[in-house]
Amino acid sequence: MASTASMKPVLLSTLLVLTIGLTLNLPASGAGEGDEQFLYTGFTGHNIILDGAATITPGGLIELTNETFRIKGHAFHPAPMSFRRSPNGTVQSFSVSFVFGIMSSFGDIRGHGFTFFIAPSTDLSAAYSIQFLGLFNDKNNGSTSNHIFAIELDTIQNTEFSDIDNNHVGIDVNSLNSVNSSPAGFYNDSNSSMLTKLPLIGGGPLQIWVDYDMNSTEINVTLAPVGIPKPVKPLLSTTYDLSTVITEQAYLGFSSSTGLSTGHHYVLGWSSAINGAAPTIDPTKLPKLPYLGPKPQSTLLVILLPIASAVFVLAVGIGVVLMVRRHFRYKEVREDWEVEYGPHRFSYKDLYRATKGFKDKYLIGVGGFGSVYKGVLPGSKLEVAVKRVSYDSKQGVKEFVAEVVSIGHLQHRNVVQLLGYCRRKGELLLVYDYMANGSLDKHLYGQEGNATLDWGQRFRIIKEIALGLLYLHEEWDRVVIHRDVKASNVLLDKEMNGRLGDFGLARLYDHGTDPQTTHVVGTIGYLAPELVHRGKATPLTDVFSFGVLILEVTCGQKPIKEDPEGNQLVLTDWVLHNWHKESLLDAVDTKLQGNYNISEARLALKLGLLCSHPFPNARPNMRQVMQYLDGDVTFPELLPAHFSFGMLSLMQNEGQLVDSSRMSSYPSPMMQSFGSISNLLADGR
Ligand SMILES: Nc1ncnc2c1ncn2[C@@H]1O[C@H](COP(=O)(O)OP(=O)(O)O)[C@@H](O)[C@H]1O
Ligand SMILES: *[C@@H]1O[C@H](CO)[C@@H](O)[C@H](O)[C@H]1NC(C)=O
Ligand SMILES: *[C@@H]1O[C@H](CO)[C@@H](O)[C@H](O)[C@H]1NC(C)=O
Ligand SMILES: *[C@@H]1O[C@H](CO)[C@@H](O)[C@H](O)[C@H]1NC(C)=O
Ligand SMILES: *[C@@H]1O[C@H](CO)[C@@H](O)[C@H](O)[C@H]1NC(C)=O
Ligand SMILES: *[C@@H]1O[C@H](CO)[C@@H](O)[C@H](O)[C@H]1NC(C)=O
Ligand SMILES: *[C@@H]1O[C@H](CO)[C@@H](O)[C@H](O)[C@H]1NC(C)=O
Ligand SMILES: *[C@@H]1O[C@H](CO)[C@@H](O)[C@H](O)[C@H]1NC(C)=O
Ligand SMILES: [Mg+2]
Repeated sequence: MASTASMKPVLLSTLLVLTIGLTLNLPASGAGEGDEQFLYTGFTGHNIILDGAATITPGGLIELTNETFRIKGHAFHPAPMSFRRSPNGTVQSFSVSFVFGIMSSFGDIRGHGFTFFIAPSTDLSAAYSIQFLGLFNDKNNGSTSNHIFAIELDTIQNTEFSDIDNNHVGIDVNSLNSVNSSPAGFYNDSNSSMLTKLPLIGGGPLQIWVDYDMNSTEINVTLAPVGIPKPVKPLLSTTYDLSTVITEQAYLGFSSSTGLSTGHHYVLGWSSAINGAAPTIDPTKLPKLPYLGPKPQSTLLVILLPIASAVFVLAVGIGVVLMVRRHFRYKEVREDWEVEYGPHRFSYKDLYRATKGFKDKYLIGVGGFGSVYKGVLPGSKLEVAVKRVSYDSKQGVKEFVAEVVSIGHLQHRNVVQLLGYCRRKGELLLVYDYMANGSLDKHLYGQEGNATLDWGQRFRIIKEIALGLLYLHEEWDRVVIHRDVKASNVLLDKEMNGRLGDFGLARLYDHGTDPQTTHVVGTIGYLAPELVHRGKATPLTDVFSFGVLILEVTCGQKPIKEDPEGNQLVLTDWVLHNWHKESLLDAVDTKLQGNYNISEARLALKLGLLCSHPFPNARPNMRQVMQYLDGDVTFPELLPAHFSFGMLSLMQNEGQLVDSSRMSSYPSPMMQSFGSISNLLADGR
């Protein structure tokens, strides 16, 4: 083997490192509720403890060893984890997962392999390289004072450690003689006696899962090519009481070594949790393994080289043509300031593929600001809704993107998650979680034979949206004003939970108002009068829109509609009119055929009116709204006159709405409607 090492300089020069760094350290959402946990998807910028030959490559991989003889490398998660709840307590259940790659530019020449381990300290200076894998030495091999638990990925058969072959996975306790080991591979989910073997070297990135259960003291080790789901049957399953091994506080790390035979050992991603499942590592977000040149086949090389060169030239030619085409197809705009938003930036290519080229078949809706497509992200297979918004003003893009990213951090079960964005010339693409049941308006007006919602569902959705809005207004680190609360921005997920969507328009409250911005964002029928006048959105203008939404859901009618004569009918006024007539419940949607909870419906109608009161000061805030809806606070005894005050003053001022608190006057969008109230009366509705 040593003789082949003379080829190294030649081959090293062909070593191409094509890596694209993508580092993510997202909060490990959706993972187990463990005591302590971490997730790395690439390692750039992370505070990993490195020792020996270990480095972090520009592409974001941990490289434990390179092709230098007799070196060892170690890498550790920076802080120890608590494996016991008290000094003499039992070692808790834990779960670890990592993605690794072993590569060699010398064909079959191999390094000694590497280990994942749990150890009491980060000092392994006494450990030897070569077959000791940088973990033990000839003195301490086998000693219980090591307190080391390890998974070895061994690529050389060392008979002194009773290795079974030169491509195996082993469970080690304080020694390199494995407690249990197996040739590398995975069991077929449909035929659990069928083992598909996997080469540890050069077979592309592989993923390992290590699970320990404190009650049964069972240790499972599972291996699979990265990207395929965790196989059901583990490769290795052993019972061993790790309470006799692991210390109260212990470090998690990797170790590797080379001898006369060398190899590159890489770690791409890593996660762990105590008393919970290790957070899922998203394979699409992992950095790529470097390309280490073609595998030479000695004598064949002489024959193959000329052919290969010809093919190469041809391939480059075709490649250039394809690249140019792709360049234009997938062209996007990226600027330096966006680097920090890396994790939230989607490539146009992925979005293009996800929506099969924005095919009409995948179009799910067109709104005021753009078209929405359904897509499935390549790799993660996550269903998303992609919204294309034309965007031309150069100024403000930065602020807008900063906001998109900041909003991407909002997480609540009643808010549609914004996953990220992509920018092209004149166009912004926003990526949201896909909501299987579409928007609320489609369910309210019973289009396409959709069964309309029953009262229970409606009232639940009202409460859920109130919770979502309360979160935006009061429970996040900054006040977020939605600015476009309306039925088509209420989306229903698989389980028919209401979620508030569409933050494309939201501006963060503390960004201040731009006096230049005179145009009002929002939707006719949901706009608070003071917003129309002053153009300043506040949480109370959201409450106004929410009030209209409550009425819309309860009455099953659009906030403004035109009668056959072209007069506009305003829903708020009509509900109020019904109340005046002492027949408030007549306003409830007739499609419910009387099947509703009377006190809930009465509350919804009155609360809807109170929220959409023309005077902002009369409106409750979202916390109060929630208390009324939950019945924690009884709704005040109000009379229709309480509302008429606003309406009357509207009429008295003939086109001018007077805000009594400020005595300033402004045109009201409601004014067009007053002629129509009498029409409504005439209709006898
Ligand atoms: N995340 C999503 N999941 C599923 N459907 C969506 C999603 N976002 C939007 N839609 C659908 O696309 C339509 C258009 O949305 P949008 O462009 O926001 O316009 P608007 O809200 O004004 O109707 C919505 O009515 C809704 O049916
Ligand atoms: C490999 O690692 C060793 C030890 O860290 C270092 O001295 C050497 O320069 C590295 N070789 C290459 C080719 O990077
Ligand atoms: C833990 O066990 C050791 C030996 O069994 C004993 O000396 C020590 O006091 C125990 N510590 C605690 C905190 O129980
Ligand atoms: C390493 O330790 C194990 C367990 O004590 C022992 O069986 C084995 O012979 C040791 N091997 C070497 C090379 O020291
Ligand atoms: C698993 O087994 C099924 C049925 O026996 C077979 O069709 C499939 O190809 C196998 N998968 C692998 C990865 O070997
Ligand atoms: C399962 O795999 C084993 C080993 O490859 C084979 O002998 C057996 O026939 C397979 N069974 C089925 C049902 O495919
Ligand atoms: C080990 O795997 C078996 C078979 O899938 C499973 O029943 C058991 O719960 C697993 N144990 C742990 C600790 O994950
Ligand atoms: C272990 O056993 C305890 C009590 O018997 C139980 O509460 C706990 O859920 C079990 N833990 C696991 C991981 O099975
Ligand atoms: Mg919308």
